[in-house]
Amino acid sequence: MAKVQQDDAPDRGAQDRTVWDRLGFNIDPAGLDETAAAAALERLAAEIARHDKAYHAEDAPEIDDASYDALRRLNAAIEARYPRLVRADSPSARVGAAPSEAFAKVRHRAPMLSLGNVFDEEELADFIAGVRRFLSLEAEAPLAFTAEPKIDGLSLALRYEKRRLVLAATRGDGAEGEDVTANARVIEAIPQTLPSGAPDLIEIRGEAFMTREAFAALNARQEAEGAKSFANPRNAAAGSLRQLDAAITARRPLSFFAYAWGEAPALPAETQMGVLEAFKDWGLPVNPLTKRCETVEELLAHYAQIGAARPELPYEIDGVVYKVDALALQARLGLRTRTPRWATAHKFPAEQARTILEAIDIQVGRTGSLTPVARLKPVSVGGVVVSNATLHNEDYVRGYGADGAPIRMGANGEAKDLRPGDTVILQRAGDVIPQIVDVDLALRPAAAQPFTPPEVCPECGSHAMREEGEAVRRCTGGLICPAQVVERLKHFVSRGAFDIEGLGAKQVEGFLADGWIAEPADIFTLEARYGPGQLQQLQHREGFGERSAANLFSAIEERRRIPLERLIYGLGVRHVGESSARLLARRYQSWPAFEAAMAQAAAELAAADPELLAKPAKIPGEAWGALLAIDGVGAVMARAVVEFFAEPRNRASVDRLIAMLEIEDAEPPAAADAPLSGKTVVFTGKLELMSRAEAKARAEALGAKVSGSVSAQTDLLVAGPGAGSKLKKAAELGLAVVDEAGWAEIAAGRESVDEAVAAAQARA
Ligand code: IVH
Repeated sequence: MAKVQQDDAPDRGAQDRTVWDRLGFNIDPAGLDETAAAAALERLAAEIARHDKAYHAEDAPEIDDASYDALRRLNAAIEARYPRLVRADSPSARVGAAPSEAFAKVRHRAPMLSLGNVFDEEELADFIAGVRRFLSLEAEAPLAFTAEPKIDGLSLALRYEKRRLVLAATRGDGAEGEDVTANARVIEAIPQTLPSGAPDLIEIRGEAFMTREAFAALNARQEAEGAKSFANPRNAAAGSLRQLDAAITARRPLSFFAYAWGEAPALPAETQMGVLEAFKDWGLPVNPLTKRCETVEELLAHYAQIGAARPELPYEIDGVVYKVDALALQARLGLRTRTPRWATAHKFPAEQARTILEAIDIQVGRTGSLTPVARLKPVSVGGVVVSNATLHNEDYVRGYGADGAPIRMGANGEAKDLRPGDTVILQRAGDVIPQIVDVDLALRPAAAQPFTPPEVCPECGSHAMREEGEAVRRCTGGLICPAQVVERLKHFVSRGAFDIEGLGAKQVEGFLADGWIAEPADIFTLEARYGPGQLQQLQHREGFGERSAANLFSAIEERRRIPLERLIYGLGVRHVGESSARLLARRYQSWPAFEAAMAQAAAELAAADPELLAKPAKIPGEAWGALLAIDGVGAVMARAVVEFFAEPRNRASVDRLIAMLEIEDAEPPAAADAPLSGKTVVFTGKLELMSRAEAKARAEALGAKVSGSVSAQTDLLVAGPGAGSKLKKAAELGLAVVDEAGWAEIAAGRESVDEAVAAAQARA
């Protein structure tokens, strides 16, 4: 039985799987149990909604159209298996993104629809068979379609009342769009009035788009003005139409083709083609390549003709739209959730090109990830010259996806790797990001060498390592790697780290750009270099006056004295967050002890059998063992810390920093027999003898867990003046309560909890 074309045709096989994998959905829809399916649908709903927003509301897509479609197909495939699990917020029930906040909303009287897709002759035959079956038409009964280019723009609804344009709206989520009337009025192709033959009321729908020429001119202007350029004409058109200032829309010429309608009580004809002809007579632009076709052969011939004309067309298209011509049949066929049953889009295959992979370079990201990048002999794919393509990670270069299965398979099912010198097949689907989809092994030069992942970071020369279970390799030279330095410095001055008032992300960026600082140690020599005497230099910086310059220097001075845990956190070692930093600080207590232990652990790791790196708990060594023994420190974090200190350039940078600081030792970890060991303490009211932070640290040092809310699990409530609901609740629960004086006795180790509670009761 022929399958009927669904909204999102399930599964395009291996190609889809590669995309799913790349986007973090390493999922086989056929192999999911119900729980896993529900979880996958939840993630997909969120992910697809995010991409919808990026595409429709922000005009800044993160993935190309083909990948987006593949995600939707994954969602549809899972929903097809588990119809019960279809979510209320399922992407299959939604078209595009909800309208943005800035424009007035317009509720569409008739929903603005999307289109189903077919990708080849067989799928087209299935689509037509489905239409015939629905209408109970014999195979020989005539059934005509219109065929016209599918324009890569955005749909626009134009409402004419008494033959005047009164409202223009974008599609939005299909049910509600945005009022862009002022902008539509400055689009020359859109008539402001219709001639007398036109009906009293009609909503004409079509595509607003930007020609390639207008797009190139706009991008040139954007670049000249230092503004961001648009990825493609579609995004440019969307960005231009959705301008709050219509004067800006006017500077960015948009075009329009009419191809459909919404509310229309009196249509001028009984066929799709007839209505389009009337539109044309009324002065609306209708695509001249629109043709009425009576057979599949005719449809395919017209598809081929449009495909052949595509490179020369002044605008971008991504397929051909077929619509049942007779409106009476359209009405009988009706709609699915988001697409009409009487129309479909025949997409052009992604464009491919062959070229030479000249080199595989390594790019270092802001967080230290090393990404292999293909340097290609420039080649034109789909009208864009491509000379780079991401290779994601080293497994991908070797020919394996995230699930370990081959993504480029040779004749015997083996993975095909990529080597400099190879002839590769490049694909660019609809949008921006080109991909290498295959390699022609027959053309591989005899001398071509397999790619070897770098052992050192190309930016800074630090050791580059790949963690167990991770696809990416990372530079360990966090503090000194130029690719990472901005992020590292921002982290260094952030809240839980050095938290220097007046030195935020923005100032760090400015200082770095001007060469005033390059690493954390430089912050502490700023005053010597740009301070008194040179104070004017800082004052002349944007955002600084005499006062704020002086304030900055004193804030930096204050931070020369720093608790060990803040210092450790500030170094920005991967996997070491604030609480891990606290664990490390408590375990080693002083900087010298900590650094000595890390140096020893590094030596132990270096001496260990490399085979053992996969089983870190088995690596022998006192320092390594002690590090792993900390409750809350796992092997991954332990290795990250040790590698960080093993990198000599990092060490040198850390040493320069340490020389500037006075490091406060940490409290030792609470022993199991500590006075508050295992107890949960809550503080409420005003504390006058010590700060909240100190009270909390003290309680933790005594072995307590500090909580923010009172429950039956609370062992002790410390209530300062002004305590309210928590104190009341503690009384109801019959919990132990002390005042601040009592707490001070406990904290100093002079009284036990029971003694302090009794004393507090006596005082009260
Ligand atoms: S008909 C009732 N015709 O493609 C069906 N759509 O993927 C409504 N598009 O939302 C659409 N060219 O923005 C139709 N010749 C054409 C089109 C076209 C481009 C867009 C339109 C639609 C999207 C669906």
